Amino acid sequence: MLDLIDHADTFLEPKHYQSSAAGYTRNLIYDAPDASLSLYSIIWLPGQWTPVHDHGSWGVVGIIEGVLEERSYARLSPDRGADEEIDLMRGGTLLLRHGAVTSFVPNPDHIHVTGVPTGRSRAVSLHLYGRTMSNFNIYDLEARTRRRIDVAHNES
Ligand SMILES: [Fe+2]
Repeated sequence: MLDLIDHADTFLEPKHYQSSAAGYTRNLIYDAPDASLSLYSIIWLPGQWTPVHDHGSWGVVGIIEGVLEERSYARLSPDRGADEEIDLMRGGTLLLRHGAVTSFVPNPDHIHVTGVPTGRSRAVSLHLYGRTMSNFNIYDLEARTRRRIDVAHNES
């Protein structure tokens, strides 16, 4: 990932910087034919955040531009596969800027919110996953539930 950050200008094209006022934008860079690996650029405009979500995969994230904020959650209730009675507790916050790399592994899954607060500049990040990241669980802290959603991306 450090090498990808250092050489981002050799493979990132204008289409990988697509953004939207509607929400953070995922631009597909590479998707392995066997769905074992995928790489996205994500463009975060000020005030854009993910929902609370997990990944069902390992992941490595590197920052190209701006400051990406990550707010982690710890799961207090064991994961027995049920989508109810899930208790989460706020964990720490990471501030990641150009050159920073962070990673996570599943089981227990890594649960977090990422985004850019209003008042900061646009952030651009690279996200490498151990599967095609076309869906994940989002969590409702109040209702103590999670549900699977499909997540959109722009094709490369
Ligand atoms: Fe994530």
